[in-house]
Amino acid sequence: MPETPWWRRGVVYQIAVPSFADSNGDGRGDLRGIIERLDYLNDSTDTSLGIDAIWLTPINMSPLSDFGYDVSDYYSIDPRFGTMRDFDELVEECHRRGIRVVMDLVLNHTSIDHPWFVESRSSRDNHKRDWYIWRDGRAPGKPPNDWLAVVEGSAWQYDETTDQYYYHAFLPFQPDLNWRNPDVRREMLGVARFWLDKGVDGFRLDLVNCLYEDVLLRNNPPKLGPRPYLAQKHVHDLSQPESLEIASELRRLADEFEGRVLMGEVLTDMPDVCVDYLGDGTDRLHLSFYFDFIRIKWNSGAFRRSVRWLEEHIPRDEWPCYYLSNHDLPRSYTRLGGSHPRARAKVAAVMLLTLRGTPILYYGEEIGMPSSRVPRRMLDDPIGRKFWPLRVGRDGSRAPMQWSAKANAGFSSWRSWLPVDSSYRSRNVEQQGGRPDSLLSWYRQLLCLRKANQALHSGDYHEIDQVPAGVFAYTRQSGPEAVAVYLNFTAHRIACPRPPEPPPGRAWHVLLSTHEADRTSGLSHIRLMPNEALLIEAI
Ligand code: GLC
Repeated sequence: MPETPWWRRGVVYQIAVPSFADSNGDGRGDLRGIIERLDYLNDSTDTSLGIDAIWLTPINMSPLSDFGYDVSDYYSIDPRFGTMRDFDELVEECHRRGIRVVMDLVLNHTSIDHPWFVESRSSRDNHKRDWYIWRDGRAPGKPPNDWLAVVEGSAWQYDETTDQYYYHAFLPFQPDLNWRNPDVRREMLGVARFWLDKGVDGFRLDLVNCLYEDVLLRNNPPKLGPRPYLAQKHVHDLSQPESLEIASELRRLADEFEGRVLMGEVLTDMPDVCVDYLGDGTDRLHLSFYFDFIRIKWNSGAFRRSVRWLEEHIPRDEWPCYYLSNHDLPRSYTRLGGSHPRARAKVAAVMLLTLRGTPILYYGEEIGMPSSRVPRRMLDDPIGRKFWPLRVGRDGSRAPMQWSAKANAGFSSWRSWLPVDSSYRSRNVEQQGGRPDSLLSWYRQLLCLRKANQALHSGDYHEIDQVPAGVFAYTRQSGPEAVAVYLNFTAHRIACPRPPEPPPGRAWHVLLSTHEADRTSGLSHIRLMPNEALLIEAI
């Protein structure tokens, strides 16, 4: 049997670079800060978290008007995050510890300050004009068509200099590159090669299905939806077949190197589009984020159905990729926690780390960082600043990592670019690290277990369907090794029927439970305690 590649077996830890660790006291996280915290992430002992890869939010030169998702030079590191030497050292130090490094690659758009755009907008006949998407309006004051920006409003920005509109799928300061121009395509693939040559282990591809738009710029048909953007069928501005070709081209490039991974952010409300980006398993992306989990509430049936959908639709040789939080969403501790956030966070951790698929763990999730309330005057996110108070923006999930109860939560010796969440005094790495019953200790145990257990990191998935409402249960199996996972989503005790037959010659034994001390019954019947996550193993 060929060895499972690292990106299937492993757990990816997402680091929001500006908020993880500040080494120089300027209030913003940086690469040296990450280097200093690598032992926390994985020093190969069971006192570290034990993750396998880090995904860094963008670190390229940028005005940082959108958390770095507005690049002004793809070949350099923003000095606020460090130098190229720091980057090389980070990669080297990570590799020494067996940690892979995944970079965010923003291919769809640049910053308005990128020299390419500065040239492009300067005149209609500039040689970079066609690097972006420029069009005449339909009539004075009327944009070329009805396309809307993801964040709202027309996706076309009028530019006086040349009396034309440019296209931006996201915010007006993020003009879309024109991927139909072969020079753009060549340049951007060159960017990917540049970083692969420097030793990065892969990319998280930002908005990978947004690269191309309909060549005729046809209007999107309407549909019912709660806000204008969602009241269009995005058939002409998103997910054009040419974007899939780029996924394939990037795959061919990545395959020239050893063990690299492409993880795609696919912007869509249709899960089958996410699956499309995986192709047959060899010809497109390795992983495509499954966004469905972020839409559903804390409900066993909803998660069961969501997983079932993916398991039924993803090609057999393909691999899911799950996450519960990221830098764009309210954190799972707050979103899913209800009145039992601590207990649910442990159940959610088990689900994330034991489903068939690669888990992405967002920094701070392992200590139960909540979404914070950021006062209006301190907002950084352009969405929050523009739409307050209707939309508070994404800063609440980007607060500094809570390392200790010291000033600035130990994130910085001097200050902090976003306010630290008030929970830091009682909820931080230092305090939880020393407590066996903490969420952090729970994550460490689970990660350690997952690493050692073939069924958990690489096995097949089978839903256990004979379970009462409120419970989500499944088995993971690899050859004779099997683990059954029972998750009680309710605050009640629930009795489940007998577990499925273990593999021949084996019997079920408790492997791990959130309620070890309370477990009195045997395994002929499973009696779950309120909010219990139980793992049993066939031995
Ligand atoms: C992605 C990023 C988000 C960013 C946007 C524009 O959705 O996750 O943070 O604002 O792309 O690049």
